[in-house]
Amino acid sequence: MRRAWQTGMIALARSPKIKRWAQEKGLAAGLVGRYVAGPDAEAGIARAKSLLGQGIRSSLFYLGEYVDRPELVAENVAQERKVADLLGRAGIEVHVSVDPTQIGHSLDPALARRNGLAVAEAIAAVPGDAPRLMMIDMEDRTVVDPAIALHDALTAAGLPVGITLQAYLRRTEVDLRERIRQGAAVRLVKGAFAAGREHAFVSQDEIKANHRRLIGLMLSREAREAGFRPVIATHDDRLQDHAVAQAEAAGWSRGEYEFEMLYGVRSALAERRVREGHRVRVYLPFGRDWWPYAIRRIGENPRNAWLLARSLIGG
Ligand code: FDA
Repeated sequence: MRRAWQTGMIALARSPKIKRWAQEKGLAAGLVGRYVAGPDAEAGIARAKSLLGQGIRSSLFYLGEYVDRPELVAENVAQERKVADLLGRAGIEVHVSVDPTQIGHSLDPALARRNGLAVAEAIAAVPGDAPRLMMIDMEDRTVVDPAIALHDALTAAGLPVGITLQAYLRRTEVDLRERIRQGAAVRLVKGAFAAGREHAFVSQDEIKANHRRLIGLMLSREAREAGFRPVIATHDDRLQDHAVAQAEAAGWSRGEYEFEMLYGVRSALAERRVREGHRVRVYLPFGRDWWPYAIRRIGENPRNAWLLARSLIGG
């Protein structure tokens, strides 16, 4: 039932016709508002400010996915630079998430490297002393090597950059150990993609077991001594509890590591972590191309079926 629901929602998310129709008609816009800050960078900044009032930091993400034309790539890069500038002007942390394919990886990997450099330089150049980071999102298995190479090159150039690694991939332990040695910023996620057994853990139990093990490495004494910056990005409260226990055992204080969750998903859990004294961030998307992202989020939980039906009937 869960799988059928999710597969159906992914098909809805990918259909260009339905996307155009839904975005033009504002279909399910009420429900979508749960997962997306608004249509433009200004709306993203306004929501980031109000979240900060509740003690929650944000990572802004411009919704321009699966781009296949140079002008769309250029628009994505312009939006990412613009939101960095606006965050700086608003005097809040300059934290921007960037997908490799969004900045041109599928058109030309060299273009993605140039654009990654341009966005990271724009973030570094924002006036003021607010903390700042360009967090590289991770996509399917074929993008992992170039994404890590981009991260390492920007780090070597002294630019503020972090990288997302995925617990479902077998290679991640090696990638993570090297980034711990570098004292990098790593956001660990489960992974929203699938791959064959030779490359990936396939069952949910295997993935979860690897996720727990990798959290243990991220929150080890050695990682802390290396200046590593761990970001535990999951909505699974048991994995988060595991991270807290690991951190306490290895001498990390609350605030030295971070929990990151998707905006609109398990908000009560995010608020609870803030009350407990943890550092919490949400991944905060903005932009007009909201249908594929929001429908994927709705598809992650069958309990959202009723909410979706109600919001479609309501207009
Ligand atoms: P899991 O899916 O087991 O969910 C844990 C609990 O949260 C369950 O109770 C579940 O029902 C509930 N839940 C989850 N989604 C929900 C929803 N939409 N509505 C209501 N309840 C919901 N992936 C990737 O491949 N590359 C990337 O760059 C990123 N980036 C990223 C950033 C951040 C900040 C996060 C939190 C996640 C990502 N992801 C990602 C997605 C990630 O790989 C994964 O698919 C999701 O986080 C879901 O996995 P969880 O670990 O949250 O556990």
